[in-house]
Amino acid sequence: MYGITGYSNGYHQNQQQHSSEEKRGGGRRRRGGRRSRHRPGFRVSDHHHHHYNNDDDDDKQEQKAPPPCTDFDMAYFHSYAHVGIHEEMIKDRVRTDIYRAAIMQHQSFIEGKVVMDVGCGTGILSIFCAQAGAKRVYAVDASDIALQANEVVKANNLAEKIIVLHGRVEDVEIDEEVDVIISEWMGYMLLYESMLGSVITARDRWLKHGGLILPSNATLYMAPITHPDRYNDSIEFWRNVYGIDMSAMLQLAKQCAFEEPCVETITGENVLTWPHVVKHVDCYTIQHDELESVSTRYKFQSMMRAPLHGFAFWFDVEFSGPTNSPTNNHIPSLLTGASNNNHIDGIQKKKRANPNEALVLSTAPEDPPTHWQQTLIYFYDPIEVEQDQIIEGSLTLSQSKENRRFMNIHLEYSSGGRSYVKESVMR
Ligand SMILES: C[S@@+](CC[C@H](N)C(=O)[O-])C[C@H]1O[C@@H](n2cnc3c(N)ncnc32)[C@H](O)[C@@H]1O
Repeated sequence: MYGITGYSNGYHQNQQQHSSEEKRGGGRRRRGGRRSRHRPGFRVSDHHHHHYNNDDDDDKQEQKAPPPCTDFDMAYFHSYAHVGIHEEMIKDRVRTDIYRAAIMQHQSFIEGKVVMDVGCGTGILSIFCAQAGAKRVYAVDASDIALQANEVVKANNLAEKIIVLHGRVEDVEIDEEVDVIISEWMGYMLLYESMLGSVITARDRWLKHGGLILPSNATLYMAPITHPDRYNDSIEFWRNVYGIDMSAMLQLAKQCAFEEPCVETITGENVLTWPHVVKHVDCYTIQHDELESVSTRYKFQSMMRAPLHGFAFWFDVEFSGPTNSPTNNHIPSLLTGASNNNHIDGIQKKKRANPNEALVLSTAPEDPPTHWQQTLIYFYDPIEVEQDQIIEGSLTLSQSKENRRFMNIHLEYSSGGRSYVKESVMR
């Protein structure tokens, strides 16, 4: 039997009841738009708790019970039922082309094999895998977008190969192990949205020993930035409005513009020095508890004199096979000046030549823009830094206790003899 409620017609719906009571939830209009702008709250359907069957003898099934599906999770899945979010992702050609190229690059792993697409959305990656010759693809999504995925699969005569499972990866059941897991799980600042945990769950339940995970690893970076245009546009603007001194608005403007992280596109020119690796994730080995809280200490040396306005965050993911997994041999993406320790890597380096020739999906400021853009944490007031001035401190990203899909950000920074702390929440 496949799915939770049975196997019929290739499509398996995990019954979800919707109540009329709706409230603000924890999902979001996840992609696109500035974080600092107003966005509508997500509306939550009646929560629905799924029950995991622990009776299965299979070792892989002997996992601890999955987290319950909360109202926040339901709101999150509901947000993915909207066409707009899928349109935006699919139209992001950088993203979608690299996924397709990675699938084709690993065709020899996929041909004749069983694949699971964790969070299939419209089913696009599942279909790429079927086109690459997969014997069977389990396309799993808890959002109602799974209904459309099933129609898309049927319309492309792939219902024999692609089994759409409408339910949480944590709750669905399949009868076999899989050779390949594919998933597009990355949120803003890589870890926002906490979807990687569901990939870990799928890996631990079903992936065969030696199986393939695409993408195979991911890296989150941070770097200090200068962005006078943005600061002037949102803050300095109030000093003279049609000849009127509106400086009384300054504090409110700073609070409103910079309290939360902003999702915006910057360029390499905004970046003051080489990035620092906040977290490297090996999808073959990462464990759930590593994602609850990520901490790092950083130390930068500004390459120029400029007002320091905050920090930018971006990530890249790499698509390599299990044997190439660079667990102990990580070369930070693209900007190889990146450093994962407390030392300054002041040596200017070229872009890397990837030894594994793995495809890399980069969301770095110097690379072609994606719908993830970059995530910016702005200071309320800029710090004037001189060339070679040190900027140092620490960062902790942790899943919110209230809603694990929210991210608490604790940032400490000091430069020029003064120290600061900024707390923010990405919600
Ligand atoms: C970023 S979208 C990717 C959609 C599609 N794979 C693509 O590349 O266009 C992530 C999808 O994963 C689904 N998802 C997230 N967590 C899930 C979980 N635990 N179980 C099932 N689906 C999940 C969401 O509903 C959403 O449709």
